[in-house]
Amino acid sequence: KAPASLLAPADLYGASRRNSAGFDLSDEQTLARINAARDVAIPDAAPLTVREPSGTVQDVTNPATGGKIASVTMADAATAARAIDDARPWDAPAAERAAVLRRAADLYEENFGPIFGILAKEAGKTLADAVAELREAVDFLRYYAAEGETNPGAPRGIIGAISPWNFPLAIFTGQIAAALMAGNAVIAKPAEATPIIAALGVRLLHQAGVPVSALQLLPGRGSVVGSALTADQRVKGVVFTGSTATAQTIAKNMAEALTPGTPLIAETGGLNAMIVDSTALPEQAVRDIVNGAFRSAGQRCSALRCLYVQEDIAPHVIEMIKGAMDELVVGDPWDLATDVGPVIDSTACDDIAGYVAANGNRVIHKLPVPAQGTFVPPTMLRVAGINDLEREVFGPVLHVATFKGNQLDQVVADINARGFGLTFGLHTRIDSRVQEVSDAIHVGNIYVNRNQIGAVVGSQPFGGEGLSGTGPKAGGPRYVPRFFAPQAPATAG
Ligand code: NAD
Ligand code: ALA
Repeated sequence: KAPASLLAPADLYGASRRNSAGFDLSDEQTLARINAARDVAIPDAAPLTVREPSGTVQDVTNPATGGKIASVTMADAATAARAIDDARPWDAPAAERAAVLRRAADLYEENFGPIFGILAKEAGKTLADAVAELREAVDFLRYYAAEGETNPGAPRGIIGAISPWNFPLAIFTGQIAAALMAGNAVIAKPAEATPIIAALGVRLLHQAGVPVSALQLLPGRGSVVGSALTADQRVKGVVFTGSTATAQTIAKNMAEALTPGTPLIAETGGLNAMIVDSTALPEQAVRDIVNGAFRSAGQRCSALRCLYVQEDIAPHVIEMIKGAMDELVVGDPWDLATDVGPVIDSTACDDIAGYVAANGNRVIHKLPVPAQGTFVPPTMLRVAGINDLEREVFGPVLHVATFKGNQLDQVVADINARGFGLTFGLHTRIDSRVQEVSDAIHVGNIYVNRNQIGAVVGSQPFGGEGLSGTGPKAGGPRYVPRFFAPQAPATAG
């Protein structure tokens, strides 16, 4: 047997660390179950709490049609306060908690039909993205179960888990699974736009055996429920994924209200770049550029925002990107042929469309989109460099700059100077350049000769630095331990 230090990560965790096998979309029975879920009745959502919740009722809409699909009761501050009163750390042994999380993973997989249906209708996810989303959620459950079982520790107490709409099942579940596996009580606040899939996830976790006092769901506003969770001294840690601006607000609130030392685990936005030098294989680079910029309608924190192509191959590569963009199918998320679905809502749609309109003189290429629904044209804009990007535009907008061979160091310096540090891509055939650029770039995840989205749980721990997050990386070995209470070693008197 090889020494542990030489084993691949998969071997270190044994069978319990295997990732989800996924779904065979060419299998007729699987497809039949998926098609049946197209008409899934979307249930209303309400807080799932120990005591009866209160709040106001709001519509949940389908971004592809703008139509109402369900209602949600948005928890009020009193419900949030009662949930904190009622929360109890999950004091079952680590092996039992792990078994429950694995059962939940199985339940998630068994319920793939309704999960895909809700992800499409509530979040506008294409079928390919819905499959990836469910697999990631299941991987988080199984990976954190293995992690917490192998390396147990003492819980902190109550953890507030605040998540975004763009991975409304995967990130939502990952936060909860890690905090629960460390024995904490979790109060989960999903994004305003995606309470239905969150409610299904929590119901499956409860069905698997997580006590309601250890896991409560509070759909609600960031300014109401989010603020309540980040300003109550009984909350002993906050795990947040979302925009950098919201993370900064939360950090400020926590600094003012909570006990010093209460941790904030924040995973935030990015201005992610890719460099393609003149030794790159253009076909491979173009495939990865188009996937990184436009898949999920660009609504991934990891998505490619600013591409640098070396000057001598740039005209050719840009022509190829245009051609590849023309092949993208934009439309009904439920159609298997669709590559790009809608963005999350009309506010996002107007914001991105306004940004593109304001940069109209820079447009190199732009696709037509369906008239109805919140579809944003996948767009390529010419820029001088990353300093032309005013902010993270969370949609299918690719900025392209060119550079000369002697400007590579300056390009890397410009990317670093923006202060974000989430993902970075490099296409080159020069091995020494891979090493030099990887050493110089300040990001959490570097991808060489491939696209920069879709980090795999357990194999590619994911998370940034600087304005992109506090760490530890999700889906990596340091994540669950952050949810343990710090224990001072005993000293002899
Ligand atoms: P957002 O910051 O608007 O909202 C995220 C969550 O924070 C929501 O649940 C929201 O209700 C809540 N919130 C808002 N104000 C709050 C407050 N004052 N106190 C407490 N909670 C509050 O982000 P979003 O629009 O939902 O998601 C998109 C952003 O998330 C993008 O910037 C993207 O880059 C980022 N993101 C990062 C990662 C990562 O792993 N780094 C992953 C996915 C998304
Ligand atoms: N973990 C997600 C990705 O890598 C955000 O795309």
